[in-house]
Amino acid sequence: MELIEVNNLKKVFKQGDINVEALRGVTFQVMEGEFSALVGPSGSGKTTMLNIIGALDYASDGNVSVDGINLNDLKNKQLSEFRLQKIGFVFQAYNLIPVLTVLENVEYVLTLKNVPKKERLKRCHDILKEMGLEELSERFPKQLSGGQQQRVAVARALISDPKVVLADEPTANLDSKNADVLLDIMQEMCKSKKTTFLFSTHDERVMKRAGRLIKLRDGNIENPNVR
Ligand SMILES: Nc1ncnc2c1ncn2[C@@H]1O[C@H](COP(=O)(O)OP(=O)(O)OP(=O)(O)O)[C@@H](O)[C@H]1O
Ligand SMILES: [Mg+2]
Repeated sequence: MELIEVNNLKKVFKQGDINVEALRGVTFQVMEGEFSALVGPSGSGKTTMLNIIGALDYASDGNVSVDGINLNDLKNKQLSEFRLQKIGFVFQAYNLIPVLTVLENVEYVLTLKNVPKKERLKRCHDILKEMGLEELSERFPKQLSGGQQQRVAVARALISDPKVVLADEPTANLDSKNADVLLDIMQEMCKSKKTTFLFSTHDERVMKRAGRLIKLRDGNIENPNVR
């Protein structure tokens, strides 16, 4: 089943008098349970693409559907609901909330979903343990290494069992060991839960593991028919 469908997607950023065409009519599909990566030179449109698929930004033209939902049909409140229900994000810069502990950062997602306290704590405890973070659960983000913070960010993306995890260069700041740990966890989740992963990356370690590479160049797709 096609979980993500991107159809003739265009994105224009207006910069004063200049129009930057970040995406120029991109079409591709991602099947449920795929572990795939957007690759291409800096500026080719990878982050723009992930942001639109995850409803953090909107298309100028064309459309995206995720799990049968056409994002063009959604209004503000429905868009945040869509993000909460369907998507887990991992950003290169971690984006943890500095005033919350590790546990609270992960728990926060479940609070938004109205999961009762007891179940929240159990699920958080389980995932933190699985990711080797249990001893760090009372620390604040700034008291962690980059690799540890990125692991917390991944725990936060996975805790709500999203259909899709969008990860923008998740290993860019990690050494090989930490990158491997993270990729192992994500691949395991992909296998066991059929979670669909779409990365953007410049990292050979990610490319090697990806089931498919979707190549972007200057806002166009390079190999539209290759799967
Ligand atoms: N908010 C914005 N305003 C104006 N132009 C933007 C904006 N965001 C991105 N762009 C432009 O859109 C194009 C695509 O940018 P994008 O960030 O998607 O590239 P990328 O493939 O993620 O690059 P990198 O590998 O460096 O992260 C670039 O030319 C960029 O300068
Ligand atoms: Mg980018």
